[in-house]
Amino acid sequence: MQNTFDPIIAVEGLRKVVRDADGELTILDDIGFVVMPASSVAIVGASGSGKSTLLGLLAGLDTASAGTVRLFGEDLTQLDEDRRAALRSGRVGFVFQSFQLMPHLTALENVMLPLELRGETQDAIERAKEWLQRVGLGARMSHYPKHLSGGEQQRVALARAFVTRPDVLFADEPTGSLDAANGEAVINLMFDLNRETGATLVLVTHDIDLASRCATTITIEAGRIRQPSAAAES
Ligand SMILES: Nc1ncnc2c1ncn2[C@@H]1O[C@H](COP(=O)(O)OP(=O)(O)OP(=O)(O)O)[C@@H](O)[C@H]1O
Ligand SMILES: [Mg+2]
Repeated sequence: MQNTFDPIIAVEGLRKVVRDADGELTILDDIGFVVMPASSVAIVGASGSGKSTLLGLLAGLDTASAGTVRLFGEDLTQLDEDRRAALRSGRVGFVFQSFQLMPHLTALENVMLPLELRGETQDAIERAKEWLQRVGLGARMSHYPKHLSGGEQQRVALARAFVTRPDVLFADEPTGSLDAANGEAVINLMFDLNRETGATLVLVTHDIDLASRCATTITIEAGRIRQPSAAAES
């Protein structure tokens, strides 16, 4: 059972190996850390270092080759896909690097979807509209993703992740497609959520301003966590 003083995420000995044409490729190795409730963590590192892979494993969207990930006190490696999805539902918001909006749904319908999946249909329209307004898309609600710019799609993806008021928000480069003003607005929204509802933020980012607002930073280097002593030497 999850206790207030327990980590909301606890990772130990995490490893991800995939098979490719040349044999086995180790994407992540020996990853371990904890995240406390209501905190904020920035995951940083060079392109290809394994950040998106790690985020997918933390949220139970992908399966590890070895090690454990505990989310809300539950060992994800012991749960099948259905039970991982049930654990995520409503408690986890995820913003993908590639947004992954439903192409046949409007912006408004995309944001309503997680509420509908949870059976929270009664005020779904109002809540979805409110979040689209908060990300500055009040005038784009009936647009389909292909008629939205990259930054607008990113903001729809953020509204979709926020609308259920998740306990943990995982976001992969949430400001990656935004200009400075919209990026700042989105950063403020995430930290408002963190302050108002105690949502834990786990953010992959290349944005130095965003990383500096997080309580802790984890640096990934070629699939491993760079230890502070190594950082001090370099
Ligand atoms: N399914 C897969 N099969 C083979 N290689 C993979 C697979 N998934 C990821 N990789 C490789 O693992 C490495 C880490 O990928 P990942 O997407 O996690 O990087 P990243 O740190 O998020 O990079 P970026 O900052 O560019 O988004 C990359 O070299 C990528 O090519
Ligand atoms: Mg990535």
